[in-house]
Amino acid sequence: MSNTAIAFIGAGNMARSLIGGLLEESGDYRISAADPDPAQRSLLADAFQIPVSDDNRVAAEGADVVVLAVKPHVIKDACLDLHDQLSAQRPLVVSVAAGVRESDISRWLAYEAAVVRCMPNTPALVRSGASALYANAHVSDAQRDCAESLLRAVGVIVWVDEESALDAVTALSGSGPAYFFAIMEAMEDAAVGLGLSGEQARLLTLETAFGAAKMALEAGESPAQLRANVTSKGGTTHAALQVFTQRGLAETFALAMAAAQNRARELGTQLGADE
Ligand SMILES: NC(=O)c1ccc[n+]([C@@H]2O[C@H](COP(=O)([O-])OP(=O)(O)OC[C@H]3O[C@@H](n4cnc5c(N)ncnc54)[C@H](OP(=O)(O)O)[C@@H]3O)[C@@H](O)[C@H]2O)c1
Repeated sequence: MSNTAIAFIGAGNMARSLIGGLLEESGDYRISAADPDPAQRSLLADAFQIPVSDDNRVAAEGADVVVLAVKPHVIKDACLDLHDQLSAQRPLVVSVAAGVRESDISRWLAYEAAVVRCMPNTPALVRSGASALYANAHVSDAQRDCAESLLRAVGVIVWVDEESALDAVTALSGSGPAYFFAIMEAMEDAAVGLGLSGEQARLLTLETAFGAAKMALEAGESPAQLRANVTSKGGTTHAALQVFTQRGLAETFALAMAAAQNRARELGTQLGADE
């Protein structure tokens, strides 16, 4: 990746987070960006001292990697805007846009583009992301390494062999942060109901969530085993978990995640429609 020229099309939250991660890792990248919003341009240029243009073509000029970091509904316009230039340059195109399929990006670019589609999640903004990547048949091994380094700058990555697996990834790690936020919200409210102050409930909830995730990452035991380790028969945790089982926690998650996967499929179809 040393001395790789990387152009970000769209200079919002995701671009800022990826650029921050890349520059922290190495000063060797030649990074440029483009965004129509003057406020976003100055934010990025001031934060990282990189060239930020109002013209996507200027940013993409000479790039080895072009990162499409715009909202999903804008990807088509960005591709149509750049397709002549990219078909001459043949860079790796990395899309971080939720839902937009590789086949649609390739069709809009109108050449045999090397495309990696990623499904990152919001914790990428605090460099604790979990992203899944899918590469089309035109992506070389070196380009796969490049895409991997890019997303590793903001968290862990996994590769999937079938693009359809990204809909399941969307239901798991894409939407997953919101599931945990909802659980934290419910635990906090319940704790206040049990008599704790809002402040006490918030701190204890967040640290418990963080501690449990840290233990699960570091302990080398499955979540099922970790749960069993702290659940003595007849104890307090057992009493609480019994209620979860009676109320169908596992079934509820299975239904909720199937709904998210279906919605991801529907959105992919809508985003790829040419009207
Ligand atoms: N943020 C996350 O945690 C997260 C997680 C997973 C996936 N993603 C994906 O990452 C992508 C970017 O998300 P984000 O949160 O970074 O969005 P964002 O903060 O809104 O940034 C997108 C930027 O692109 C600009 N833009 C609009 N049209 C453009 C065009 N034609 N050419 C170049 N730039 C253009 C926007 O300017 P205007 O504001 O003026 O329109 C905005 O500054 C999305 O597709 C999203 O699905 C984000």
